[in-house]
Amino acid sequence: MAANTKQLATLDELFRAEPDRLSRLSHEIAGLYFDWSKTHLDQAFIDAAIQRAEKMGFAAARDALFSGAVVNPSENRPATHIAERGSGAPDEVDLATARRQRMRALVDAVEAGAFGDVTGILHIGIGGSVLGPHLLVDALGRASKLEVRFLSNIDGQAVDDAVKALDPATTLVVVVSKTFTTAETLANMEAALGWLREAGVEDPEGRLIAVTAAPENALDAGIDETRILQFGEGVGGRYSLWSAVGVSFALALGWDAFEELLEGAAEMDRHFRFSDGGANVPLLAAFADRLYVEDRGCQSRAVFGYDERLRLLPFYLQQLEMESNGKSVTTTGKPVDHPTAPVTWGGTGTDAQHAVFQLLHQGTVLVPVEFVAVRESEDTQAPEHHRQLVLNAFAQGAALMQGRASDDAQRAYPGNRPSSTILLDRLDPRTLGALIAFYEHRTFANAVLLGINPFDQFGVELGKQIARQLSEGADEDALDASTRALIERAGL
Ligand code: F6P
Repeated sequence: MAANTKQLATLDELFRAEPDRLSRLSHEIAGLYFDWSKTHLDQAFIDAAIQRAEKMGFAAARDALFSGAVVNPSENRPATHIAERGSGAPDEVDLATARRQRMRALVDAVEAGAFGDVTGILHIGIGGSVLGPHLLVDALGRASKLEVRFLSNIDGQAVDDAVKALDPATTLVVVVSKTFTTAETLANMEAALGWLREAGVEDPEGRLIAVTAAPENALDAGIDETRILQFGEGVGGRYSLWSAVGVSFALALGWDAFEELLEGAAEMDRHFRFSDGGANVPLLAAFADRLYVEDRGCQSRAVFGYDERLRLLPFYLQQLEMESNGKSVTTTGKPVDHPTAPVTWGGTGTDAQHAVFQLLHQGTVLVPVEFVAVRESEDTQAPEHHRQLVLNAFAQGAALMQGRASDDAQRAYPGNRPSSTILLDRLDPRTLGALIAFYEHRTFANAVLLGINPFDQFGVELGKQIARQLSEGADEDALDASTRALIERAGL
């Protein structure tokens, strides 16, 4: 994809040279408007990228994903999160549907009072077992009658903070772990049980719902089979919010909202599956990602939700993109030819403008910026708040691109800095589902262009293993001097 390395047209030149640029690089899907025209994608680059996609077997890889074939070769399994949205191998779709019916029965039972009065949910999980559900509830849960708190960190302070606003007598504890072996989650489950016990709750275990792909481990932990919701082994943690992992969202927002979330994602699935070349928006976005990482040497990309409700989006995307594509070898174990995932980071607009945008406008590193904004607001303040908010997002994109010449070097803006914009008609379960599915498919498309497996994450294992060995009192002499000294100084 080196087609464009010599020909460094500026954004301004690209707009002048390509009168149809905006219409070619903007698309509307499922209530979301995507504008990639302020990136350096030009037709020559897109054509070369399409050829690269063909060479890398994009169509076959996508078919494999949507037919439920093995797309995670290192673990020899398909990626079945799309089956939760109705695509994939028919048996996987049937299984996902049956499991969803069980999940619905449990949600109905809670609503019907089977657990007595329920006013709060304590959702325990880490990584993919919390980031998705937390994003959903934080984005859409304002009208919920339930107080939903999320607990992930092993830090006892996190436990104290999470339970503070909850009434132990009327709280349900939802423990989510694909493996049901994750140290943080099991420790926090014990802490939550202790909290219920100390508050005098009768049968604390009976207030527990487990969500896992390993029900045998949840049974071993003493959780009754009737309160275990299972999801498939092929559903990766960071792709799992569509399964029973989303039960806290379904409890907080109601079943219809959960179904709408899946429908929004299914609409994006159809777009990704049946559109080709530059008309396929997740693929087009992946082309731009490759351009910046490979041809322009960008080591990070920044995402700013210009909407308070999307403040957790960068955290969710960090796991999705960095855990999926932060790899150095191809699916066959060879060193990968190109730099892979950049660092994903970001924040919330307009706050971020007053903190990090200085570097984006005048710093020496080039960071492609993504703006995510919502056309309709739902807050109760004067409409001018929302107008200012969204105008600020667009103003930043324009400023990054235009720059400003000045005789005073301190006050000059180089401009020609890229941004992409996603504008949602409104923020509801359907559009949020479509947005998240867009990011999933973009991540997959990047992986195919690179020839890597986005569905494993062996890089997280070593640190966990050393922590386990240390906590079990492994011989510290085997450690380096620095780590030994730190352990000693901390009194551990
Ligand atoms: O350590 C990384 C990881 O394995 C993630 O991939 C996963 O989402 C998270 O830990 C939690 O794992 P589990 O759902 O099995 O508790």
